[in-house]
Amino acid sequence: MAQTTNTTRGPVTGTAHRAKKRKPFLLDLYSTAVGKKYVMAITGVLLIGFVITHMIGNLKMYLGKEDFNHYAEFLRELLVPILPRTVFLWILRGGLLGAVVLHVHAAYGLTLLNRGARSVKYQSPRDYQVATFASRTMRWTGIIVFLFVFWHLADLTWGTVNALGTTAADGVFVRGDAYGNVVRSFERPPVALLYIVANIALGTHLFHGVWSLFQSIGWSSPRFNKWRRWLATAIATIVVVGNVSFPIAVLAGIVGQ
Ligand code: HEM
Repeated sequence: MAQTTNTTRGPVTGTAHRAKKRKPFLLDLYSTAVGKKYVMAITGVLLIGFVITHMIGNLKMYLGKEDFNHYAEFLRELLVPILPRTVFLWILRGGLLGAVVLHVHAAYGLTLLNRGARSVKYQSPRDYQVATFASRTMRWTGIIVFLFVFWHLADLTWGTVNALGTTAADGVFVRGDAYGNVVRSFERPPVALLYIVANIALGTHLFHGVWSLFQSIGWSSPRFNKWRRWLATAIATIVVVGNVSFPIAVLAGIVGQ
């Protein structure tokens, strides 16, 4: 007798499951450590681009009030009249916020994955000669920079903390006068110190971030590592020296009202 085949047969055993619906490729990749490292590297490059561009733009402080405020206005006028005023700036802000959210989310996810992979804690101190100071403090420098950005927005974009001064000289936020707002903010030594500390934390974070992003995308070889270290040092130094120079210049009276 001819044997019939049943093509719609159900599970043979009680443990067999129906095939799981596959996630879209990118989400599937993101659920792995490699995917998260890629996201950290790509968003990291975007954020480094912003930080460098922002620092270069801020160098206009040295050209005086008119040039600096003109630059701040130029950012609002980007792509006018193709788009209405400030629309492109809002698109850039949206991209920046998206990059920050993904960067933090991937970092958090990687931390959980690493913890899961090591159920027993290291029994002896880690080899701190291999792990540099920057790499060991990534989480803390990241949190400092994250909190700083909130404070910085409240200080120079929303004007909520600048407005808390006790005298007219230190407590005025004037919309449209970005230059004056920076000067009035940095004239207060504790605020200047806060910017200096936050930017040193940012530099430390950038140093290890730039170094390890090449590892994440698989570009690592003894010959190439010299260049990686050089690039990491150069980017961190340029951003820190540029940004720290502003509060120092204001306190030293080189830049003023
Ligand atoms: C001493 C160094 C810095 C100075 C003098 C400075 C200055 C400014 C000023 C004046 C604004 C307001 C611009 C405007 O409303 O027209 C601003 C906005 C901003 N800054 Fe900074 N900044 C510094 C460092 C940083 C750092 C280190 C970061 C990030 C890690 C950062 C992130 C931002 C962001 C996200 C905005 C909002 C941009 C927008 O919404 O258009 N800044 N900064």
